Order: sequence, then structure tokens, then C-alpha cells
Amino acid sequence: MATTNFKMKHPPPLYCNNEHFSMALNTYYQHIGYPEILAKWTEEEFDSSVVNVLSKRLDDKLDDQPLRVLGVGSSEGNQETLLLSKLKTKFSRISATVIEPNTKQLSVYQDMVHQKSSDITGIEYKWHNQTFQEFVTSIETGHKYHFITIVHAIYFVGEVEETVRKLYEFLEPGGIIFLVALTDSGAGLLSKTFPHIAVEEQTPTNTTEPQKIKTNYLITSTDVKSVLSKYQMAYTQSSYTESADVTPCFNQVKMTPETKLLLDVITVTVKFQESVSDEIFNQVMDFIKRNSRVKKGDQGDDKYYFDSKCDILVISK
Ligand SMILES: C[S@@+](CC[C@H](N)C(=O)[O-])C[C@H]1O[C@@H](n2cnc3c(N)ncnc32)[C@H](O)[C@@H]1O
Repeated sequence: MATTNFKMKHPPPLYCNNEHFSMALNTYYQHIGYPEILAKWTEEEFDSSVVNVLSKRLDDKLDDQPLRVLGVGSSEGNQETLLLSKLKTKFSRISATVIEPNTKQLSVYQDMVHQKSSDITGIEYKWHNQTFQEFVTSIETGHKYHFITIVHAIYFVGEVEETVRKLYEFLEPGGIIFLVALTDSGAGLLSKTFPHIAVEEQTPTNTTEPQKIKTNYLITSTDVKSVLSKYQMAYTQSSYTESADVTPCFNQVKMTPETKLLLDVITVTVKFQESVSDEIFNQVMDFIKRNSRVKKGDQGDDKYYFDSKCDILVISK
């Protein structure tokens, strides 16, 4: 339970605790049926909007070179390997560079690749257990990729304009960036309404001034699209909705460990309920309730679904 006299100025952002992040994210993904949502989209749309387009554009350019793929914030690779297996149907050789700072998540991805070794013939992996920002400074200039995937990771990699421009710079002419991000609804709107949640204060090495590092969902697809328009980068878009049943959140007695983890992902905070003051907790819960879809349950009771619409952007160079 949130305490009345304990107030954390900066509640711990979720990504700062690897163990908790993995656990909360997996719980959230399972709850909203994320693997099924993305598998359906990949099955129905990925070939026409990405695989066939890349194949047409790159067929005579690649010669014997592999298709170079870059994954940013790949996590345990479940979603990324779906895309890679689709790409494999047209590209016999693929070189996949994976950036994932969370060591635990990366090792799950690596284990999966080793176990499925026969299914990934033709894919050569390069693992980077580091942040995108670290990768940018460590990689030699001029290195380019044909396909870049950044799925729900744009929130964590730094200033949006700089990131989008960097990703575009990494793209080969004819290449595609596959970017998925929250819209200004659900969790995206929550972050924009409570911008002080999940903001970390850090002191960079070259100054004594603390700097606020935003780690919540303050960056949404709206911000990405305004950068794309500003620099006239071509893109197409489609969308899907993540729907979380948050009903138990409104009853302290019915609050389960699973619901607490859902709340942690929605607010991007480690142990949100325990970390913030009662005042903030109540304001956020009120926000979630007001922005939820209400549906009658089997017993005639009200069920609350917190919907976060997400955009899938296919950006071309
Ligand atoms: C919400 S998860 C999405 C994971 C995966 N792309 C998916 O859709 O299943 C965000 C991922 O970004 C990673 N991440 C956090 N900060 C990052 C950074 N600075 N650079 C690259 N990845 C980062 C996290 O560790 C996490 O695996």
C-alpha cells in the first residue's frame, strides 16, 4: 500500500531494475496477448508492407551480400525473430545486429537462437549488450543497415529528433525502419499527463548539474511523426490496441501481484504502488479509471479496460 508520509521525489524507473523490468514486461505482454497481436500483424501485413518491398528494391543490389538487420531494444527477441523468419523467406543470407542493454533479456534471446539453431540457418547474429546511445558512439561511421526494427524502445533511447535522424542515417537507401510506439492514448497519455513520473536524475560526468533523464512514455508516435514530417521522411502507418484489464487496481483488497506488475508497466515505475505517495497514487488511479473503457463482466459488475493505441510506422529511405 502507498504510504502517506513516504514520498519518493523520483520513483525508480522500470528499466533501471533489469529483473523487475523483465518480469513486469512479460506479465503485461501475456496479459494483453501481445505475442498474438504482433504475430497476427506480421502474418497479415509484414510481407506486403516490408518483405516484398525490400525484396523488389534490393534484389539486384545485394549480390551475394547478406541483408543487414539492426534490432534496437530487442528484449528476448520473440517479436524480432518473427520478423526475421519472414525476411528469411526472401533473403537467404541475413546478418542481424541486436542491441539490448538488459543482460537477462539478451541471454534469453541468445538461448532461444541456440535452441532453434536449425530454424535460423542463414542468420548470423552480432550481439550488443549495450544501449543504443553506447552503440552509436562505438560503431564505426558509415555502417548501414537495410532493415531496422525499434519496437516500443523509442521511449528509452534519448531525444526523439536525434534518435530518428540517427536511425535514418543508419539506413541504406531503399531500406526500411519498422518503428512501433504508443500514441497519445492510454499509457502514452498517462506519461504526458504525469511527466514527473519515471524521470531519473543523473549527473553527467562533464558537469555537476544534475540532468533529468526521461524514461517514461513521454515520446509517442505523435512526436516521431512530427520529426518524419519535418525531414520529409516517407512512411506508412497502421495501428493496434493494447488493452489491459485494470479492474483489480481500484480495489486494494483485490490488487494481485499480477495487477501490480501491469501498473508498473503502464506507469514505467518499479513497484509503483509502494514507491509513490498516496496523493500521486490516487491521482494516477483516478486518471486510469477516467480513461478506461467500461464493460459489464459476467456477474454484471463493471470491468475497466485501459486501452493504449499503438502506431506501427514503416519508414522508407
Ligand atoms: C518495452 S521493451 C520492448 C521490447 C521488444 N522490442 C518487444 O517489443 O518485445 C523495451 C526494450 O528496450 C530496451 N532498452 C531500454 N533502454 C534502452 C536503450 N537505451 N537502448 C536500447 N534499448 C533499450 C529494454 O531493455 C527493453 O528490452
